[in-house]
Amino acid sequence: MHNRRNFLKSSTLFAGGLWLSPSLIQARQKISSSDQVRVALVGCNNMGFSILRHHLALPEVECVAICDVDQNILDKRIAEVETATGKKPQRFTDFRKLLELKELDAVIVGTPDHWHCLIAVAACQVGKDVYVEKPMANSIGECDLMAQAAAKYNRIMQVGQQQRAGRGFIEARDLVQSGALGKIRKVNIWSNFNYGLGNMIVPETPVPVGVDYDFWLGPAPSRAFNPNRFHGSWRHFWDYGGGLMSDWGVHLLDMAIWVEEEPAAPSRVLTYARNADKEGRDRDTFDTMNVLYPKKDFLINYDMNGGLQTGPYGKPYGIAYVGDQGTLVVNRNGYEIYPELDPTTKANKIEAKKLEGTTESHNLHVANFVACIKSRDQPNCPPEAGRIAALHAHIPNIAARVGAEELIWDDPSRQFVGNAAANALILPEYRTPWALPTIPV
Ligand SMILES: NC(=O)c1ccc[n+]([C@@H]2O[C@H](COP(=O)([O-])OP(=O)(O)OC[C@H]3O[C@@H](n4cnc5c(N)ncnc54)[C@H](O)[C@@H]3O)[C@@H](O)[C@H]2O)c1
Repeated sequence: MHNRRNFLKSSTLFAGGLWLSPSLIQARQKISSSDQVRVALVGCNNMGFSILRHHLALPEVECVAICDVDQNILDKRIAEVETATGKKPQRFTDFRKLLELKELDAVIVGTPDHWHCLIAVAACQVGKDVYVEKPMANSIGECDLMAQAAAKYNRIMQVGQQQRAGRGFIEARDLVQSGALGKIRKVNIWSNFNYGLGNMIVPETPVPVGVDYDFWLGPAPSRAFNPNRFHGSWRHFWDYGGGLMSDWGVHLLDMAIWVEEEPAAPSRVLTYARNADKEGRDRDTFDTMNVLYPKKDFLINYDMNGGLQTGPYGKPYGIAYVGDQGTLVVNRNGYEIYPELDPTTKANKIEAKKLEGTTESHNLHVANFVACIKSRDQPNCPPEAGRIAALHAHIPNIAARVGAEELIWDDPSRQFVGNAAANALILPEYRTPWALPTIPV
């Protein structure tokens, strides 16, 4: 079990930009082989690599292999790990070969969303634990398969909804659940980001040298290469992602769901979706969405604007838990309680309170995963929590795509009620030779 003081020390150094401090390297050398946790990374361009670095800030974690279908990025990342740790990870361009490594304990999935299911399920099937980035998968049905696989093969699966490890969010949840805000009526959520518009249209180009584009597409439909549909900006196309709704929506909706007494799949979802700014833009996904999720105890009210970057309380994104005694507003920078006033005395009904400067939580979420690999306890964001959060994002996207303002979801049967077009979007059609995984009962 890693020592918390050492961890905090190393993560501070990490945050300062120093990859691995001399003391951390020394601490790594003292770890016995039986205490080591051996991880591999699949998809190493951006977030996947960041998550790997948080793993390597823990002295007991070793990176044994890295895989990517873009050899330019792959070689760069392998060199970076070798420089930082003194050990060169093995190099793979096909994750199936990587999964043959016997010594591997866990796999980090940092690919675009359309690959999460295949890689995560294959890892479970060969007995590896999995840290899979959010959204858990690019469809409702694939999330289900992943949850089934984690259960069937008894694997630890941490979904990358790292806000669950953030101090500000945890304190906010505890305050809400303690009744400090009175009775919660609504959870208002907003996410306004300029990047939600996607890129301007550009022509197709030859596939960059060193990229296996057919493998990058994998189970998604075949098509000519366009940089807009590649690294980073793939998230604006249904074949690979779900736009701002699944990118930020999953994180923020997760914070509304986890204050529920019994976090549950949504049953009724009301969606308004339009495109306010699509002129010259290359994307499938919507830039303007408002979604209502009536829950047992309160209403979740989600307001999303791609192409804008200001929002309520002067914040581009946030969550407001609205109680009858006061409202708590939280985001990754902290929280603030805005008390209601007594109409007669004008006194605050509850105490005002503020927490500032609570930004990083990826490190804590990763540390939780590594601790659970050893203890076999459920992590902060187990598969069911990832599945439920992803449902809250996929349902409005499906509603918008099929033009339904209301969708009724029946979670036990995993079907929409009375909407065949919506049901047709529960699972993607995989392009051969890729096939949806099957999990024996
Ligand atoms: N938790 C967070 O805060 C957070 C933030 C950003 C992104 N993400 C998530 O992280 C994931 C990756 O996003 P990104 O922005 O890093 O994307 P990216 O496009 O920058 O990187 C993805 C990498 O995966 C590689 N890849 C694609 N298919 C592959 C395959 N079959 N095998 C091996 N490598 C493959 C690509 O070549 C690329 O290097 C997404 O699921 C995204 O939603 C999470």
